Amino acid sequence: MIKKGFTIWFTGLSGAGKTTISDRLVEVFTERKIHVEVLDGDVVRTNLSKGLGFSKEDRDTNIKRIAFVCKLLTRNGAGVIAAAISPYREVRAHARTEIKNFVEVYVKCPLEVCEGRDVKGLYAKARAGEIKQFTGIDDPYEEPLNAEVVVETDKETVDESASKIIAALEELGYIEPSAA
Ligand SMILES: Nc1ncnc2c1ncn2[C@@H]1O[C@H](COP(=O)(O)OP(=O)(O)O)[C@@H](O)[C@H]1O
Ligand SMILES: [Mg+2]
Repeated sequence: MIKKGFTIWFTGLSGAGKTTISDRLVEVFTERKIHVEVLDGDVVRTNLSKGLGFSKEDRDTNIKRIAFVCKLLTRNGAGVIAAAISPYREVRAHARTEIKNFVEVYVKCPLEVCEGRDVKGLYAKARAGEIKQFTGIDDPYEEPLNAEVVVETDKETVDESASKIIAALEELGYIEPSAA
């Protein structure tokens, strides 16, 4: 059960594993009858933020929109997962302040590993200059300095990462500990 609304705020490079871990969390939550809403960066960019690009200004606008929706849901007692790269520290700090019940999860994975995975073929395009302002290649990624949870997806399994996040939610008093 959800004890109070929360937002799990993923941040990390493209291909680090935000969507994969988010999907696994939804499965775990479903088993535990905890309903969550997901705002995945790629999905948001096809509707709520359709038309925005990847300049710093557009990225910040995108993140502020996601944060706004997370705030509304969270203050109404919902569990929310936001999974966007959110490369800039300052706008993540804005999201934290707005949302309040904010659990930042740094999905940490070396650039070389993300690039090796190249799930969507975007790194190859960025290296070829076909995509500009790609995070980690020709746009910055500012690592979190005090995330509630750090998962290292080049060293942990998806399940291990998901378990760390669930444990943090329990410890922070957002969800009831599992009966098991
Ligand atoms: N421990 C792990 N955690 C998450 N993803 C992993 C892990 N090991 C390998 N992967 C793989 O890495 C890729 C991550 O892609 P994705 O979840 O789409 O990243 P993002 O949403 O951060 O861009 C997937 O192909 C996934 O199967
Ligand atoms: Mg993703």
